[in-house]
Amino acid sequence: MSREEILKKYDQTSDNLLAILHDIQDSKDEHYLTKEDLKKVSDYLGLMYSFVHGVVTFYSMFSLKPRGKNIIRVCQSPPCHLMGSTTISKELIKILGIKFGETTEDGLFTLEMTSCLGVCGVAPAIMINDQVFGNLNTDRLYEVIEEKRRVK
Ligand code: FES
Repeated sequence: MSREEILKKYDQTSDNLLAILHDIQDSKDEHYLTKEDLKKVSDYLGLMYSFVHGVVTFYSMFSLKPRGKNIIRVCQSPPCHLMGSTTISKELIKILGIKFGETTEDGLFTLEMTSCLGVCGVAPAIMINDQVFGNLNTDRLYEVIEEKRRVK
């Protein structure tokens, strides 16, 4: 769906700002927003460009630079930390060959940190795009990454 088609789905009220930004970002394989996107959204909703830019830079789920097809967010909050998120983080760095904030050369994965995903009962947990994976151990982590590699 194009940016213009996404905008038309929504009423021109600022209440829809976050939903519109999410939709536009999710419509791109590289999961990011351009300055042109921000300009179009601010014009459409009658908001200041600087306000929309401020919102996008405030929330870590938005990005102004291209990211991988699969955005892996590793929960760093205390329950996941206690249940082994440090090991999960180290394994991901090893498997993918990138650090947090980086994207693999093939454009398949971006590694990011996040706070609680709301699924502490299955800690340690990660989120890949909009899918949550919990009760992770090293073996399960390898399986999950291989599954994602296969569906290029
Ligand atoms: S602390 Fe990790 S999901 Fe809540």
